[in-house]
Amino acid sequence: MKFFIDTANLDQIREANELGILDGVTTNPSLMAKEGITGDAAVMAHYRTICEIVDGPVSAEVISTSFPEMVEEGKKLAAIHPNIVVKVPMIRDGIKAISWFTANGIKTNCTLVFSAGQAILAAKAGATYLSPFIGRIDDMNWDGMELISQIAHIYNIQGFETQILAASIRNPLHIVKSAEAGAHVATCPLSAILGLLKHPLTDIGLQQFLADHAKASGKS
Ligand code: G3P
Repeated sequence: MKFFIDTANLDQIREANELGILDGVTTNPSLMAKEGITGDAAVMAHYRTICEIVDGPVSAEVISTSFPEMVEEGKKLAAIHPNIVVKVPMIRDGIKAISWFTANGIKTNCTLVFSAGQAILAAKAGATYLSPFIGRIDDMNWDGMELISQIAHIYNIQGFETQILAASIRNPLHIVKSAEAGAHVATCPLSAILGLLKHPLTDIGLQQFLADHAKASGKS
């Protein structure tokens, strides 16, 4: 399973990248706004910087909602760097735009996906990635992971090549469960990635190893 980081924060992107386990980055307009990145030039420059830090797919989301505008915006985003993936919302014109981008060799990430029907439509349009928002489904008292499993099953038996990118991940268990359910990619906040490290027995065991070593070498 590939690991993407879901942020526009450059420090966090660098920190995850330095671990050597990062395969890409996803952003969205809310994450860009959180970093105070506004205006076309600043947004473009920010995506360029991210592409220079991480050698992998970087999702850049369109903010227009009509087919012609999405195509124009997507073309500009794709021109920033070869690793840019144009992120397109799951709406009628979005599907049309994904079909256009696919036919014109531009990679896409279909976002705001909450059902298997939407996942089938995005795959039919040729989306490179599909982003089901599992955390937001859990927030509604439904089961986000069940959706990942259902889509993985459908894509598998139908031979769809769209990669399932588990999004809206909130914690390390979401990552583990996404891997189990067959997601190709998990896009995660840094906290969820670092949460995978944690186990008290690892800490206790390491303390013991170091203490035994110090004792044996007469250092304590
Ligand atoms: O990748 C989508 C993600 O950014 C949404 O996450 O936590 O806002 O639901 P969240």
